Amino acid sequence: MSIFHHLFFFFFFFISSFFPLCFAQSCPLNFTILRPLIPNPRPRLNTSMECHYVLQGLRLVLSDYLRRTSAFFPPLDTADSCWQTYQTLDPSFDMRSTCGFQTAWISEGCLNLTTKSSFEARIPNATLSDVVSNCNQSLQGSACASCTRSLANVQALYLADNSTANVSDCTAYPSIYAGAFANYPGPTDADTASCLFSIGPGNNNSNRRSNRIGLILGVLVGVGVGLAVLISGSWFAYRKYQASKRKKGRDRIRSLEMGSLGGSGLRSISESTNLIHFSFDEIKEATKSFSRHNIIGTGGYGNVYKGYLSDGSEVALKRFKNCSAAGDANFTHEVEVIASVRHVNLVALRGYCTATTALEGHQRIIVCDLMKNGSLYDHLFGSMEKKLGWPIRQKIALGTARGLAYLHYGAQPAIIHRDIKASNILLDDKFEAKVADFGLAKFTPEGMTHLSTRVAGTMGYVAPEYALYGQLTERSDVYSFGVVLLELLSGKKALVMDDDNQPSLVADWAWSLVKAERALDVIEDGMPKLGPPEVLEKYVLIAVLCSHPELQCRPTMDQVVKMLETDTSVPSIPERPIPLVAPIDDIERSIGSNSSGQFSSSGYQMFIHESSHHSGRKDEGTSSSY
Ligand SMILES: *[C@@H]1O[C@H](CO)[C@@H](O)[C@H](O)[C@H]1NC(C)=O
Ligand SMILES: *[C@@H]1O[C@H](CO)[C@@H](O)[C@H](O)[C@H]1NC(C)=O
Ligand SMILES: *[C@@H]1O[C@H](CO)[C@@H](O)[C@H](O)[C@H]1NC(C)=O
Ligand SMILES: *[C@@H]1O[C@H](CO)[C@@H](O)[C@H](O)[C@H]1NC(C)=O
Ligand SMILES: *[C@@H]1O[C@H](CO)[C@@H](O)[C@H](O)[C@H]1NC(C)=O
Ligand SMILES: *[C@@H]1O[C@H](CO)[C@@H](O)[C@H](O)[C@H]1NC(C)=O
Ligand SMILES: *[C@@H]1O[C@H](CO)[C@@H](O)[C@H](O)[C@H]1NC(C)=O
Ligand SMILES: *[C@@H]1O[C@H](CO)[C@@H](O)[C@H](O)[C@H]1NC(C)=O
Repeated sequence: MSIFHHLFFFFFFFISSFFPLCFAQSCPLNFTILRPLIPNPRPRLNTSMECHYVLQGLRLVLSDYLRRTSAFFPPLDTADSCWQTYQTLDPSFDMRSTCGFQTAWISEGCLNLTTKSSFEARIPNATLSDVVSNCNQSLQGSACASCTRSLANVQALYLADNSTANVSDCTAYPSIYAGAFANYPGPTDADTASCLFSIGPGNNNSNRRSNRIGLILGVLVGVGVGLAVLISGSWFAYRKYQASKRKKGRDRIRSLEMGSLGGSGLRSISESTNLIHFSFDEIKEATKSFSRHNIIGTGGYGNVYKGYLSDGSEVALKRFKNCSAAGDANFTHEVEVIASVRHVNLVALRGYCTATTALEGHQRIIVCDLMKNGSLYDHLFGSMEKKLGWPIRQKIALGTARGLAYLHYGAQPAIIHRDIKASNILLDDKFEAKVADFGLAKFTPEGMTHLSTRVAGTMGYVAPEYALYGQLTERSDVYSFGVVLLELLSGKKALVMDDDNQPSLVADWAWSLVKAERALDVIEDGMPKLGPPEVLEKYVLIAVLCSHPELQCRPTMDQVVKMLETDTSVPSIPERPIPLVAPIDDIERSIGSNSSGQFSSSGYQMFIHESSHHSGRKDEGTSSSY
């Protein structure tokens, strides 16, 4: 480019950026922040990519504006001036006419969300703090993934269906908000810009795809070119350095897995999740060599120990029994996946240990934060003297539902818990519910489940279609959640034996009361601080709906969250075929009258009888509190 061109563009830039300042309402957006983020040099793009890029740049600028002013968009009378200022970054590409962006769109929001507080009022506190916990860090690599995952969750649960693809539409609101308030480096930080808005030298993709803005800018800001090249050069070198560092870490983990196991004292921090691979010696030290006194729970899978790490923090360690080294790669992968899923209502994984020792055989241990208040099972059926009051039960119900909704809709790929039960709902010092053991049910040693080998779960909580056919979907978790909710409301166990040693399901009992319009009789006698009857009744109806034997009648977990936390009414509950555990003549009658559909019910009936004889209720009563 000739000197003449430089001068021309400089002149153009000068005129168009200051002209509006003098004669119209000046634009309060600061487009200057885009300059250092635009890579240089970059190839040309087709129109649709350029428009996308322009839109992303605008969202970043709006995020910066939100951070400064707590408003999502500038006043309408500045809209034209804002477009003109933006346009000066690339005079040769007419953004509005080429992309069909209307002038007013820059000042229009999604729903009625105009300010920080209106956004925060729409999103529950727990979800917002989940966003902050995932996004308030440098958004590189997996940190970016967990942040965008929690934002997608906000989008899907609270802003869905209203996202017309306009300039400041609902789609981008979570990112705009997160850039402004949930991420301390803010939207102008290169990693944040790259993660939340796919803009900047940090993004390999947008590096390739970038548009003309940078080209023009590079010309305009002559000196800037050198600087930008320098920055992106050193950035690239930094990335390379990081990548090689990461690769080394990965190789280290791999070599640990491959054979040199056995407590060498080596510890590696995994690439993607900050998950610590503990050595067996560290684990032994933490648990005083698996001292009896440190055991806080037992179950079919093994024991749970309390322990102290060398940094003094208190943790729970779950030691699986009867493991073989063969499944370790699979196990490690699963643990990595689990660790990448973070939510206030899910137990956070700290690390794990796999090792083979001469004396004790192969070891698999996972390490989590210790929960001060034990498990929900302890409080409902354990030795606790005081009954939980309604406000705490309500909080536990909501937290559990949110944690599960996040597993189903926030995690990528979705995770089905498979083993939701009262002893897997842990409670921290503030009685915030934390769902434990997600994704691990499949590592229960073979033969330990008293159901079939295909089915991992606990009697009384397992959805009929899963127990019978091994058909596993998110709705199986909804069933188990419904059962836990009934336990929480009624103080009765999922499965009890009556005087004649006949099994009876809390789900059947609650349904019979609801059918008789006595829903409130489900509520446990003597529960302190009872809430308003209409709320209690609503919870009962939701629980009964969730534990419906037919999976298509159950709501999804995000519908459950919505029903629990808003005024959304509960749909009427479809009639059940017959109670799951029915007197035998009922079943015969129904088989007589109707052949095909009832077969499953009788199958289930026999199944329950059989397995209850074999298993007793030993496993159900154990607690895995950690
Ligand atoms: C816009 O942002 C740049 C870079 O952060 C800053 O130097 C400048 O002062 C800002 N301008 C306004 C008007 O706030
Ligand atoms: C523009 O380019 C992108 C990727 O470079 C491609 O996916 C898209 O189909 C292209 N659009 C048009 C209209 O050519
Ligand atoms: C937005 O607010 C206006 C008045 O404040 C109200 O009339 C309108 O129904 C609201 N729209 C939505 C989608 O909430
Ligand atoms: C959410 O947090 C805000 C401020 O931190 C507080 O005023 C409000 O009561 C909280 N809402 C709920 C439902 O906890
Ligand atoms: C984010 O972290 C920083 C320090 O790391 C802290 O000062 C800030 O308060 C945190 N922001 C939020 C919203 O928690
Ligand atoms: C979408 O907007 C309509 C009103 O415009 C509102 O009734 C509906 O609840 C909104 N949907 C969501 C998921 O927020
Ligand atoms: C967004 O765009 C659609 C068409 O793409 C249009 O119908 C709608 O009115 C626009 N929304 C706003 C807020 O301008
Ligand atoms: C960008 O990523 C692609 C693969 O996604 C890779 O082939 C290419 O070398 C990368 N470019 C740079 C500059 O890192």
